[in-house]
Amino acid sequence: MKTKIEKLLAEVHDFKANSKEEVEAFRIKYLGKKGLLNDLFTEFKTVNAELRKDLGKAINTLKNTTQDKVSTLKEQLEDTAEQTGQFGDLTRPAAALEIGSRHPISLVKNEIIDIFNRIGFTVSEGPEIEDDWHNFTALNLPEHHPARDMQDTFFIQQNPDILLRTHTSSVQTRFMENNKPPIRTISPGRVYRNEDISARAHCIFHQVEGLYIAKNVSFADLKQTIQYFTKEMFGKSEIRLRPSYFPFTEPSAEVDVYWGLETETDYKITKGTGWLEIMGCGMVDPNVLKNMNIDPEEYSGFAFGMGVERIAMLRYQIGDIRMFFENDKRFLSQFKAAL
Ligand code: PHE
Repeated sequence: MKTKIEKLLAEVHDFKANSKEEVEAFRIKYLGKKGLLNDLFTEFKTVNAELRKDLGKAINTLKNTTQDKVSTLKEQLEDTAEQTGQFGDLTRPAAALEIGSRHPISLVKNEIIDIFNRIGFTVSEGPEIEDDWHNFTALNLPEHHPARDMQDTFFIQQNPDILLRTHTSSVQTRFMENNKPPIRTISPGRVYRNEDISARAHCIFHQVEGLYIAKNVSFADLKQTIQYFTKEMFGKSEIRLRPSYFPFTEPSAEVDVYWGLETETDYKITKGTGWLEIMGCGMVDPNVLKNMNIDPEEYSGFAFGMGVERIAMLRYQIGDIRMFFENDKRFLSQFKAAL
């Protein structure tokens, strides 16, 4: 009886099937009511007491192996049926599409562009690798001018003439070279400064700078335009202009917006004053217009520039500028709703 069982066990091991029907026939042959295993159990009842233990074990092993074999074969056949079937399982639910989200910097940049588009500013773009003329000299920053220290510059390959632009004012010089007034343009883009990275500063960031040149443009026009912007962007239109210095504008100013002191965060971000600095601006210096072959007697203009990260930090109450560059999915996916 022992040899019979061993022979059957080897047969079970070697069995192969190409269809479900073959597996079912195999199951009935071994495990069915009139199957081989039942025969073995019947025979087992007549076996001597001293052989029982050993044979009982062997029959059980055969039974379990056969059952395992049947279920493994069934699974394998189902898998291949699914893979080779013309359409697979048509009732299976479709895999959910994961919807991405825009980067918060893109969201805010697009919003700024939209706001200025509505009052006639069009977008202009330029290269990130610039020459000295467009980034500095044309903007009234001659070679040894101390104001160049305001913007620590990355130079390319020891060549002091080729650099990564430190502001998108370089796009405006290019625009003035190629267009006649009236000019009404905004220049969004990435800029680079050789600064230590901290929660408040980064060596890469984004700017949107604006330029308006026409006849009789006044400081009042500048103020109106900025007020319109802060109202649209933050819902706040109380601004103040603090005298400042930029080589390319005269007079120059820093723009503060009245943020309010309603919450604890308001106290923190405005250092208890209620006012927040959001951008630099001024009337285009006549020297810049001359450099661009625009007659300062005939035309005047204003310019402004803001950091997109700063606006986004205020907009979404983000405390650390580095988060924008780490691209942690947990951070980015919070902006899904803002699409
Ligand atoms: N270009 C200046 C900067 O990067 C910003 C600015 C633009 C200031 C236009 C005044 C006028 O800091």
